[in-house]
Amino acid sequence: MSFTFSKATKKQSRLRFDIEGPPGSGKTYSGLAIATGLCPPGGKIAVIDTERGSASKYAGQFTFDVLELDNFAPAKYVEAIAAAEAAGYDVILIDSLSHAWNAKGGALEMADKIAKRSSSGNSFNAWKDVTPEQNKMVDAILQSRAHVIVTMRVKTDYVLEKDERTGKTAPKKVGLAAVQREGMDYEFDVVGRMDHTHSMTITKTRCSAITDAFIEQPGEQLAKVLRDWLTDGVAEPEPMRMPAPVKVDAVQARLEHPRLKMLFDQLGAPPAKRLATLERYPDNDKLIQILEGKVKEEDLAKEKIKGVFAKQLAGVHDEPAPGQEAPQ
Ligand SMILES: Nc1ncnc2c1ncn2[C@@H]1O[C@H](COP(=O)(O)OP(=O)(O)O)[C@@H](O)[C@H]1O
Ligand SMILES: [Mg+2]
Repeated sequence: MSFTFSKATKKQSRLRFDIEGPPGSGKTYSGLAIATGLCPPGGKIAVIDTERGSASKYAGQFTFDVLELDNFAPAKYVEAIAAAEAAGYDVILIDSLSHAWNAKGGALEMADKIAKRSSSGNSFNAWKDVTPEQNKMVDAILQSRAHVIVTMRVKTDYVLEKDERTGKTAPKKVGLAAVQREGMDYEFDVVGRMDHTHSMTITKTRCSAITDAFIEQPGEQLAKVLRDWLTDGVAEPEPMRMPAPVKVDAVQARLEHPRLKMLFDQLGAPPAKRLATLERYPDNDKLIQILEGKVKEEDLAKEKIKGVFAKQLAGVHDEPAPGQEAPQ
């Protein structure tokens, strides 16, 4: 056999996107919004719904077809993906992939059942049967001709931590590992972590335009950046920008709040960023505290938001390039 190197090209044109987050953070909604932005004109979106019709509550806002699964064996996912492919869907949203791990019929239950049937009662050997099933499901996702977006739940862990200010020990939320086989996130081009403000922090990406991006209410604009990236041979994707804020008079008026104005000026926050921030934090006092760095953080997620938020206000990530101002 001869080993020949050939010039590397970006052959891939289909996205593999993993959206992770706790319940209510925006996995389903953002998945639908991004799927809608990725879908070519006249194309169609298939949703494989394991959450008992939870995607369908957004049927008024997005156009998609849905298949509800009630058994979550990895093989069922493979069948559902194959059915979506056969029907010619352009984007497949799997909501959620966590069920294939820890819900009825999922990998953990399969391993458990096999172990109980075996003479040793040991689950170690059971994985010899379950892992290939799991791998087939991953292959079906990776080989699909459609864009595939998956969602994964995260589990919350707590550690006891001493608060230096008060000297008291209190439980603190940490970890937030995705509910799936360890390392599942490696299979995806982009991994986004949702938080309770429905913002997404990009924790892993092969698309450099969104490295470490913090995206409020991700949707169409993120999809556009990804579409550009997937289209080989075209110009570099535009840097990620904040969505154009919806202007509300009350928010406009708050722009003139003397203390807020001074803090924004100090941070060098551009006008669009000020509006978006004011919309996100309707309480002036609370926002002032945040901008002054005085808010006691209750959990890691908030800490992270604050960190990225402060960085954004300083204009690190997403300033529009000259001549590319977001339409107002
Ligand atoms: N990208 C987004 N843009 C705007 N609103 C969002 C977004 N993501 C979530 N939301 C809001 O959060 C709510 C809960 O989101 P959902 O996707 O159902 O959460 P999850 O699937 O994580 O449980 C939605 O009904 C919507 O109001
Ligand atoms: Mg959901």
